[in-house]
Amino acid sequence: MTPSTGVTSAVALAPPQTQTRGALTQLDSLRCIDCHAQLSLPQEHSTTCAICGRTYPVRGGLLIAQGELTGKNRIAAAFYNSERWLRFRPWEQLFLKTFGGLPGARMQILRHLRHLRGGKVLEVGIGDGENVALLPRSLQIAGIDIAERPLAACRDRYPKRGLFLALAEGEHIPFADGTFDAVLSVGGFNFYRDPQKALMEMARVTRPGGRIVVADELPDLYEWGWGHLLGIPQLDDWLMRRFWLGPEFTDMVMNTRLDVRALARSALHRLKIYSIWRGLGYCIVGAPPHD
Ligand SMILES: C[S@@+](CC[C@H](N)C(=O)[O-])C[C@H]1O[C@@H](n2cnc3c(N)ncnc32)[C@H](O)[C@@H]1O
Ligand SMILES: [Zn+2]
Repeated sequence: MTPSTGVTSAVALAPPQTQTRGALTQLDSLRCIDCHAQLSLPQEHSTTCAICGRTYPVRGGLLIAQGELTGKNRIAAAFYNSERWLRFRPWEQLFLKTFGGLPGARMQILRHLRHLRGGKVLEVGIGDGENVALLPRSLQIAGIDIAERPLAACRDRYPKRGLFLALAEGEHIPFADGTFDAVLSVGGFNFYRDPQKALMEMARVTRPGGRIVVADELPDLYEWGWGHLLGIPQLDDWLMRRFWLGPEFTDMVMNTRLDVRALARSALHRLKIYSIWRGLGYCIVGAPPHD
């Protein structure tokens, strides 16, 4: 489900005659998510795979590289496209403020990209682009996300940054192998439909010698909620269902068991996992497996 935002003025991925053409050619390694053939850059309103014929529309400056979502990705996209996410956002900000300050909490993750002097970075699950302002301006940034509303907000927030933005799943990244110097993901990872596949995809699109950085809160963070601490865990379930995440997302959170270490080990090389946000979050830092 990808509701249109109706916003089409400022574009992140603009028609060839406009100034973002430069940024696009530097990210000219698009790959078909169906047959993996190289895709040419979108001309006018779309590009079509020369091998399998899949068409990739450009809507409001965003490359549309995903079909109908299933499983957790459908639930997550519905949440992040909804007003509920906007209402939940201040709680997320409060959490980050408490556990490292703003932007300190984000820098606990972004410091792992500090070594980059120019180059290409992909943020998977870029949302409305909170991290973009904290990354060096010398970097070319591409972002993908399964939710169109935050992605469009990201486009509108940085009209001059030359971002390349695509509606796409972390499990099917529409770029060729080794395209990026680094791949970043902050938040949302615990509830990806297939986090292992997404991590393998992040490794695939990272060049040899490049870096993959993935951070999120502990998958069982809800067990640190007020209700659990007071001995009434039902209170957390009720608060999440009623006020914060809604019933579908809450069920997803409650039913997710993730062994982050095992997952990271299966996909990455030269792995380190850092504890962040005073122990309430993790940050995976690794390299592609054949590095
Ligand atoms: C908590 S928000 C974080 C946004 C941004 N990275 C930040 O740090 O503010 C998580 C984002 O991940 C996106 N997301 C969730 N599952 C995804 C998936 N499987 N592939 C790509 N993006 C995904 C959501 O739509 C949402 O915008
Ligand atoms: Zn194809």
